[in-house]
Amino acid sequence: MKIISINGSRRKKGNTELLIQSILKPVEKSATHVESIFLGDCTIGACTGCEGCRSSWECVIKDDFQSLVEMMDEADGVVLASPTYWYTVTSDMKCFIDRCYSLIQFPKNRSEWIGKYDGTGKTCVTAAVCEQKQEANMGNTLTLLTDFAKDIGLNVVDSVKALNCFEAGSIQKEKAALKDAEAAGQRLLQ
Ligand SMILES: Cc1cc2nc3c(=O)[nH]c(=O)nc-3n(C[C@H](O)[C@H](O)[C@H](O)COP(=O)(O)O)c2cc1C
Repeated sequence: MKIISINGSRRKKGNTELLIQSILKPVEKSATHVESIFLGDCTIGACTGCEGCRSSWECVIKDDFQSLVEMMDEADGVVLASPTYWYTVTSDMKCFIDRCYSLIQFPKNRSEWIGKYDGTGKTCVTAAVCEQKQEANMGNTLTLLTDFAKDIGLNVVDSVKALNCFEAGSIQKEKAALKDAEAAGQRLLQ
């Protein structure tokens, strides 16, 4: 099996990374190949809305985005995770999601679409972190990741959130969230 994790935080030892590591714990116990991506290390330009991808499943902008799509094509499972920045995902994650507009097509009309990964059985766990204790302060971070993943055809088997995490590493005290993350990782393999 192959798993790819995609992290929208630029903090290499940040809370999102630690949450991802908990999700990957059961995965790493099995004979699974894991590829971990920090979007901040990649060059991914903004979607220009050119609609050049309409019939090809391919974005016409050539940068690191293509290699990420190749990794997702090959993966059996995807972990998609972001901290909350102003009630939503980080700009790196939003940029990546926008470019994935090339991974849906509208064969009949604009209100019905198909995702590149529909029917492939690829599993996905979405995960989000925020500083505040109230879930409202996480905004749409987790729902955006989840709706997006479903739209491109991933089978979202679980979604994990960790509230009350500010300083990098402070998620270590959120034992319940880390336990949820491990359980989610188990589902990723099923
Ligand atoms: C620009 C910016 C905006 C943020 N906006 C929010 C927010 O809207 N709600 C919230 O609860 N936390 C917010 N935070 C806090 C981060 O979500 C929190 O520190 C998180 O643990 C960072 O994850 P990381 O360590 O993986 O980078 C914000 C942080 C930054 C830097």
